[in-house]
Amino acid sequence: MYEELLTQLSISKRIVFFTGAGISAESGIPTFRGEEGIWQKFRPEELANFSAFMRNPKLVWEWYQYRRKIVRDSLPNPGHTAIVDFEKYFDVTIITQNVDNLHNRAGSKKVYELHGNIERNYCVRCKRRFDYIEFPDAESPPLCDCGSNIRPDIVWFGEYLPQDQFAASEKAAEQSDIFFVVGTSSIVYPAASITSIAKSAGSFVVEINIAETEISNRVNLFLKGKSGEILPEILNQLKVKFL
Ligand code: OAD
Repeated sequence: MYEELLTQLSISKRIVFFTGAGISAESGIPTFRGEEGIWQKFRPEELANFSAFMRNPKLVWEWYQYRRKIVRDSLPNPGHTAIVDFEKYFDVTIITQNVDNLHNRAGSKKVYELHGNIERNYCVRCKRRFDYIEFPDAESPPLCDCGSNIRPDIVWFGEYLPQDQFAASEKAAEQSDIFFVVGTSSIVYPAASITSIAKSAGSFVVEINIAETEISNRVNLFLKGKSGEILPEILNQLKVKFL
């Protein structure tokens, strides 16, 4: 069923998985766009930008506490774990737009996070980090020792992406033999530009999505379906054929 892809995999070493909210959908975490998407119910300008946080820190903090609970109650799904399995056979890099930490929790080794991570926080003023420290009962942003609010380590609208993560992602995309674009609408920039970098560098680009996107007619292969089903299936067929 995936003959062309299996042949490509058999001659490939470096694989990149560029992931978006769709890969975590089967873990029960809502995506951003589409009928049930987060941005249908909430307004990004009220919740996902710095001025909103300064205007109403409690509201923004509460929203992230609510999303943190969803993430903590979720588990990596077969899509995440299939990627971990790919690491046994290939040099795998994950570039994710997700903040849910599920690739790390699944056990993936090399994960670049372009939009931050909901399990981390930092002080808005002195930038002191509060990584993987839970504030489960805090209904308002906790205060740093310097007296300022602690905020989630999420890239909000209008903010720069972490430059080290972005530069490392560009390099991985350039060097990849196969570049999987999994569960993303590919419309949020600059993250989405990573796919063009891979394509221009000659990587074989494979998109996995339940629906066609803006880039579907420009990739080398479009596979329609759920990532939690397609990724394990590719791996199974690969094992049967080559390993
Ligand atoms: P979107 O919500 O824009 O897109 C999710 C994509 O996943 C859609 O194309 C769906 O068709 C697809 N999808 C849903 N379920 C799937 C499944 N089981 N298997 C495969 N595909 C599936 O999410 P992103 O592209 O990640 O930014 O959004 C990009 C950024 O926009 C996010 O990182 C976030 C948001 O604003 C920040 O938080 C900074």
